[in-house]
Amino acid sequence: MQTRREFIAEGARAAAIAAAGPALLLEGCAHPTSIPPVLPASFHDVAGSRSLRAHAHRHGLVFGSAVIIHNVQDDPDFAELIGEQCGIVVPTGELKWIALRPAPDRYDFSRPDFLLQFARRNRMLMRGHTLCWHESVPAWIQTAENRPNTRQFFVEHITTVCKHFAGQLQSWDVVNEAILPKDGQPGGLRKSFWYEQIGPDYIDLAFRTARAADPHAKLTYNDYGVEYDNDDSAERRRLILDLLRGMQKRGVPLDAVGIQSHVKAAQPITFGKGLADYIEAIRQMGLEVYLTEMDVNEDDIATDDPVKRDAIIAQTYTDYLRVALANPAVKLVLTWDLSDRFTWLNSGPTHHRKQPNRPQRSLPFDRDYRPKDAFFSIRDSFDRRL
Ligand code: XIL
Repeated sequence: MQTRREFIAEGARAAAIAAAGPALLLEGCAHPTSIPPVLPASFHDVAGSRSLRAHAHRHGLVFGSAVIIHNVQDDPDFAELIGEQCGIVVPTGELKWIALRPAPDRYDFSRPDFLLQFARRNRMLMRGHTLCWHESVPAWIQTAENRPNTRQFFVEHITTVCKHFAGQLQSWDVVNEAILPKDGQPGGLRKSFWYEQIGPDYIDLAFRTARAADPHAKLTYNDYGVEYDNDDSAERRRLILDLLRGMQKRGVPLDAVGIQSHVKAAQPITFGKGLADYIEAIRQMGLEVYLTEMDVNEDDIATDDPVKRDAIIAQTYTDYLRVALANPAVKLVLTWDLSDRFTWLNSGPTHHRKQPNRPQRSLPFDRDYRPKDAFFSIRDSFDRRL
């Protein structure tokens, strides 16, 4: 099987041939009998000016990816891929409470600090994910002894973490996934540990504290389940917009809204007016929109044929981005990792669902870091943007 380096080398050669014409093909070939077949340069050449990063930039967007930081540290080919394709990176887990704060009096910034240096070296931005989430709540804060001090720990945590990175992150997901209508709370708020210990004003508190500690990062509210033209998504969109309008009325600092964009392939319902209207409503509130965690869950695709699956997945990227990128408020597009080798959809109990023995092909690059149809869908979607 062709390696990534061979693939890129072949791509560069194909591009050079395309640029130089057949003359180059004949070089070093004393008696050519025929011109060897060459695949179109556009198919192979995905680096430099043909990367997702470069195409996004030409259309007023920044493209990037979430990464598990040790993969960047341990795998030079993956690090090269990230540097080549991304204008922004975000750690998938290393800035969440459990990873960052193993004990009340101890923070571990080593991995995120590494990623920040890596981003600098590659002239990439970095964003932070996340200061407040219902998951990744450390056991130590839930003890009978510490629980009564949750509010104090919360403010102190956000202050310390935001100050550590002040002026260096493009944005922070300050609060992640605060809406869950089935919990039956006012405003559709999720009954998270933070909600129960601090009260519904934990959201305002998080944003005010973050702004005071880092006035430069764009403060983002991030959530999922808003992408479809169905009742569930419509209800979640309405509740999120109500939450954000309330925050603005109360003078809470807020700059952007993250749409996670974990979408599904082969669903009858597609993307349309619900999503478009949601993005437009956010734009009219003076906020930016970030597609923060895009990937395509392909569990519902019936065929096992990878060629057919890749085509359906790619079409899902096209359909989604056609709607989302039509609005100029959308400034960032990030996939939740860049390679199928590391997609979260292949690990963790909640995602071993319908096809436990069929690894997902959800991302723009395959396990061996070769671009798939999804890569070209994303790149073409950027190019269609004005
Ligand atoms: C996921 C990570 O990718 C996993 O590695 C981890 O085990 C659980 O969290 N929405 C989010 C992200 O906002 O934080 C989640 O990340 C994926 C869903």
